[in-house]
Amino acid sequence: MCGIVGYIGKKEAWPVLIKGLERLEYRGYDSAGIALLREGAFSVYKKKGRVSELSKLVKNKNENELSGGVGIAHTRWATHGVPSDVNAHPHLSNGGDIVIVHNGIIENYLSIKKILISKGYKFKSDTDTEVLANLIEDVKNNAKVNIEEAVRLALTEVVGAYAIIVLSKDEPDTMVVAKVGSPAVIGVGKNEFFVASDATPIVEHTKKVIYLEDGEIATIKRNPKNKKLILKIKTIDNKVKNLYVHTLKTKINELEKGGFPHFMLKEIFDQPESLRNTIRGRIVLEKGNVKFGGLEKFKDELKRLNRLTIVGMGTARFTGLIGEYAFEELARIPTKVEYGSEFTYRDIAEPSHTGLIAISQSGETADTLNSIKKAKKEKMLTFGIVNVIGSSIAREVDAGIYNHVGPETAVASTKASSSQVLLQIMLAIYLGRMRGLSKAKGQEILKEIEKLPALVEIILKNAKQIEKIAKKYKNSDNFFFLGRKYNAGTAMEGALKLKECSYIHAEGCNSTELKHGPISLIEKSFPSLVIAPKDSLYEKNKSSIEEIKARGGPVIALTTFGNKELENIADDVIYIPETLEILTPILAFVPMQLLAYYISVERGNDVDKPRNLAKSVTVE
Ligand code: AGP
Repeated sequence: MCGIVGYIGKKEAWPVLIKGLERLEYRGYDSAGIALLREGAFSVYKKKGRVSELSKLVKNKNENELSGGVGIAHTRWATHGVPSDVNAHPHLSNGGDIVIVHNGIIENYLSIKKILISKGYKFKSDTDTEVLANLIEDVKNNAKVNIEEAVRLALTEVVGAYAIIVLSKDEPDTMVVAKVGSPAVIGVGKNEFFVASDATPIVEHTKKVIYLEDGEIATIKRNPKNKKLILKIKTIDNKVKNLYVHTLKTKINELEKGGFPHFMLKEIFDQPESLRNTIRGRIVLEKGNVKFGGLEKFKDELKRLNRLTIVGMGTARFTGLIGEYAFEELARIPTKVEYGSEFTYRDIAEPSHTGLIAISQSGETADTLNSIKKAKKEKMLTFGIVNVIGSSIAREVDAGIYNHVGPETAVASTKASSSQVLLQIMLAIYLGRMRGLSKAKGQEILKEIEKLPALVEIILKNAKQIEKIAKKYKNSDNFFFLGRKYNAGTAMEGALKLKECSYIHAEGCNSTELKHGPISLIEKSFPSLVIAPKDSLYEKNKSSIEEIKARGGPVIALTTFGNKELENIADDVIYIPETLEILTPILAFVPMQLLAYYISVERGNDVDKPRNLAKSVTVE
């Protein structure tokens, strides 16, 4: 939801912090701020609006106001308190001794605030974070302890999710980082350390990172004698932890736009490669099977599963609506799809031998993370299909499968979503081959899966045709996306893509549902995109197109190359290459992503950072 960055080392801190915020802006961008600690004093600059606004503010300061090698910074997606200068982070404590940046939600902040007010503390902002700053100051002053211990003691009183970076004016050579429920990564440089919500601001400085675990507090302190910076980690209940340093594989150019005008278009065009990376090393064609290293040790439990629940939010959940069919058809396992948020609060009727599959690109979606914790309490086996390595969900589940599609920066999910569908189909084969799915059937599907990257390349070659259609429909106020069976979930996803990027009201609907109500909305100004590949339901989908046309509604038909007949019925036709019915969603996603992208560009929207959204929703 928000992005935090910290730096302590020999460089000037402020350029490192501003660049780091730019890399994290996809996590939230309604306000931003920076705090520098130099010669025992804080310089704090913060502003409503994008990081670029903060950058302009900071660059107007003179050199000596900015010099110094210690600082923290934050880009915000508001949870408590409207986007404003005063609610922007960093937050200072009353006495000016503590400064803090925070990603997450302190659930009991009001009760703590009441106690602090009774002790005479005053508050400038409406945020939970300012409460935490004053709690730490209060503990530090009363317990007469150093900043590391003050943070630890204060956090024993806190309920909620947080990733925080804390500095104390009195201890300019110390930085404290703590996390529960929100991500924090520490980059290990040469006598310098970087802290961030994820590795993207860190990778250009160092590939060595440490992922803080829930309940851990990291303290980075300069040895006064030899000026060396030392990192120590302990838990909130004061147990010393070993340091596990990982080496990042992300390449810096993956974070850049690679010549595309937007990250979203780059990531759409990444899909032949991202699907290859999803597949790489996982197909065992001679056995008609797949292999997932992360599941190996759970083979016996997997064999005993007799029910599956898929959880996710937004796009992730829509891909689950597609995966549901695959698990039932290929693995013969009764499967249902739930909002992560709803599963958490459901009374689970029969948890035994039920597997939970959590789908999440960021691996930080609180609703999905909480559903995993609930499933584990119910003794369910939990799996993750996650893109961000080392993310909270990746570390929470019993076993997982990484998408390996690389960083997905645009708020609108594209390459991760096609990979999510593919991995569910591959997982369905994996589970199916334990339950009687024939080798021949497995080989048939896997051979078609291996063709997908090349088929997506064919679709991308026709991007200009989609751009032309986008220009024609860019001023629509409403849109239907219609599909059936595997492509009902596809239709939901197509609608979400369009609405979140273009701000057009788009509704995904099962085509069969149309005549039970939604068809009353059809009129000349209300176009529909109907997913009608040449498959087992083609004739039914063609009838839906005819029903819409009979009521004057414009139709964009999405069908299989060579199926020319829809050109006489629909207003526009988008073609995708032929593939197995179960794989069509992966191909259908691509033109719908392009349609959403081009319409949004035509409407002048900030495609990579649509209004009101964030890439990762880390609060319930
Ligand atoms: C996708 O285009 C949306 N930005 C959003 O629905 C997203 O899929 C959802 O928030 C889940 O995110 P996750 O995959 O990171 O858990």
